[in-house]
Amino acid sequence: MGAPYDFDTAVDRRGTWCVQWDGVADRFGVDGLLPFTISDMDFATAPEVLAALRARLDHGVFGYSTWQQDDFRSAIAHWYATRYGTEIDTGQLVYGPSVLSQLSQLLQMWTGEGDGVVVHTPVYDGFRKAITGLGRELRGVPVGDEEALERELARPDAKVLVLCSPHNPTGRVWTADELARTAALAERYGVAVISDEIHADFVHDDGAGRVHVPWTRVAGEGRWALVTSGSKAFNFPALTGSYGFLGDPGDRAEFLRRMETAEGLASPAVLSLTAHIAAYREGAAWLDAVRSYVAGNLGHVAERLGAAFPELGWVPPQAGYLAWIDLRPLGVEEPALQRVLVEREKVAIMGGSVYGAPGFVRLNVGCPREKAVRGVEALVRAVGAVRTV
Ligand SMILES: Cc1ncc(COP(=O)(O)O)c(C=O)c1O
Repeated sequence: MGAPYDFDTAVDRRGTWCVQWDGVADRFGVDGLLPFTISDMDFATAPEVLAALRARLDHGVFGYSTWQQDDFRSAIAHWYATRYGTEIDTGQLVYGPSVLSQLSQLLQMWTGEGDGVVVHTPVYDGFRKAITGLGRELRGVPVGDEEALERELARPDAKVLVLCSPHNPTGRVWTADELARTAALAERYGVAVISDEIHADFVHDDGAGRVHVPWTRVAGEGRWALVTSGSKAFNFPALTGSYGFLGDPGDRAEFLRRMETAEGLASPAVLSLTAHIAAYREGAAWLDAVRSYVAGNLGHVAERLGAAFPELGWVPPQAGYLAWIDLRPLGVEEPALQRVLVEREKVAIMGGSVYGAPGFVRLNVGCPREKAVRGVEALVRAVGAVRTV
């Protein structure tokens, strides 16, 4: 599967300072665990991206650079046109060192201490840390509960909705209707929307016809920003670099001023620009192949969980390479499960409490099939050992 690309052969990442393998003890207390954790993949990026990076490296000069140029702008416009059928206004483009740094600046621009910031739960831990770390109040609403969403948006001190589209960790892809209703609610209550679309390129083609709808398509008169990066789908987050779109010209000017002053951003990461341009111009075939390979991994997880624990009724996520698994029907306590996973099975799998959802696990299967199989086998054995129902 995946031809002409080889996703089956493992690349040894150990000793590359990577968080996934080398940093496993920081979260799990011991080294040497087989990791299924932070959201990056074990695959090398697209060959087209590698070739562009090599050519740029060969140039040898890495002086201050600019993202405000047509190669970057037109590559992004091409990507949105060809992948999302969306004509974007490149005049709305902004840049930031990472999606989370953009989020942080926007939260500082649009909220004050103690203001409410609404998110869907379970919530990506990066959002939680950014919101609470800035002294803003995190207000969670369960994914899919539109009544709760309206209730929270209606509170007078609710200032921003941070939307994760598609949603991490559940992998939910929001429909155009859901997004339009969300946009209307946010506008009615004067709440700004920050739509984080870093997982957009990984919507699975499972026959249901789901498509990612960029926020630019539903945004109304209210304040909004779309923040994203090619780094997730093409697996180059350590190059650093992200971009976004900001609807309002005044907000855009203020955002860029803050990037320059508060963040001291003098130059984008030029290798990230190179990688984005190559990915968006030439990387579509690789992305389709890696996504379908990962869908195979997720299909395997579904098959294995279905055989071992049919009562879970687990189905693969609509987007992404993270298997979000609700183990509550089996009466699984997270500390007991983690003990067996770490001490007996020697695997690192994220516990749901990281995302405010104890009783769940998040298994990253952005990896060769053989490793994914080992992960799910370890999980099945560990759950079998600690289940109480
Ligand atoms: C929803 C979401 N946003 C942002 C990030 C991080 O992006 P960056 O490294 O560009 O801050 C992640 C990484 O897992 C993510 O899942």
